[in-house]
Amino acid sequence: FTVDWDASAAVKDGFDSFMDKEIHDQPKAVADTLLGRTDATGALVLDELRIPESTLRSIDKIIVIACGTAAYSGHVAKYAIEHWCRIPVEVELAHEFRYRDPILTARTLVVAISQSGETMDTLMAVRHAREQGASVLAIVNTNGSTIPRESDAVLYTHAGPEVAVASTKAFLAQITACYLLGLYLAQLRGTKFADELREILHELQALPDKIQHVLDGEAAVREVAQAMKDEPSFLFLGRHVGYPVALEGALKLKEIAYIHAEGFAAGELKHGPIALVDEGQPVFVIAPSPRGRDQLHHKVVSNIQEVRARGARTLVIAEEGDEAVAPYADIVFRVPQTPTLLSPLVAVVPLQIFASELAKAKGLDVDQPRNLAKSVTVE
Ligand code: G6P
Repeated sequence: FTVDWDASAAVKDGFDSFMDKEIHDQPKAVADTLLGRTDATGALVLDELRIPESTLRSIDKIIVIACGTAAYSGHVAKYAIEHWCRIPVEVELAHEFRYRDPILTARTLVVAISQSGETMDTLMAVRHAREQGASVLAIVNTNGSTIPRESDAVLYTHAGPEVAVASTKAFLAQITACYLLGLYLAQLRGTKFADELREILHELQALPDKIQHVLDGEAAVREVAQAMKDEPSFLFLGRHVGYPVALEGALKLKEIAYIHAEGFAAGELKHGPIALVDEGQPVFVIAPSPRGRDQLHHKVVSNIQEVRARGARTLVIAEEGDEAVAPYADIVFRVPQTPTLLSPLVAVVPLQIFASELAKAKGLDVDQPRNLAKSVTVE
């Protein structure tokens, strides 16, 4: 009697790749990042934030610096923090930030986001910010890494070790930590009432189950990915928080499936990208909640119609119950109803699954894509 066994398969928990395992770790990554961060009254307590409350009350600008997927979590943070806290938020790639002449004061909070805590571009930007007198808060997944050591404070994401080069669960945990930061600043600065904050936190705590629900429906996404494995190019469109989700969806396909993929702000279509659309072009669209305020949903439905009229095949990520997209979508991937600002945590999941399955169908190494490193410790 013999058993086939290899060490890496064991830690993959039976999944084909670390990436698939880590995609499935996401409900836990989000839940663990939320864990222990409220008191008995439901108020947020971020003990690790060792920046004095008086400093946090007086900040007049936040600059998020990061690279790759971590930078897209910063894009999501901008929408949430500006809305909840009324503090201007800039998001910048760390390597760009460092080589310009950013305007930083003692009232600027720089938020450095990094899974590894070792990315050299981000580390150099942290040093640059501190030299200019700004406070730096690190949002990092790896305990004891360099970036938190060199920052004023750290808010750890609790995603657990991430092995696959393409980041998945760290991304969701980074977004979750950014929400916690935004809600904490709103609590501290009084820009939201306590009951509003509790309601948002309550919605946030419901997210792990919703992510699990998306994972439970993964077979449908995988089937479509297999059928599209020979497509040469994909476009991704989104508005508002759907825009960074589109960027991240495109990045995943580039990274592990080596397919040309571009993410666009849907409103920008008519200013150039629509020229790329011809017969059969696959276009992913991240549809916002139809229950949201403003014209967002209506505008995205128009964008779906525009690309479809030019021959695109549309793959739409839409909320359960959103029937308005159905007539214009070739394929709909459903996600549970979620408030708009929190929706990236569910909307990105089908895109991760799609990229992973497509790379696998092409026979590629999903976890170790060519030319890439998990942690880039050189400039
Ligand atoms: C590399 C990885 C990406 C990651 C980026 C930032 O390029 O391949 O997946 O998003 O670095 O890494 P960090 O550890 O700073 O989040």
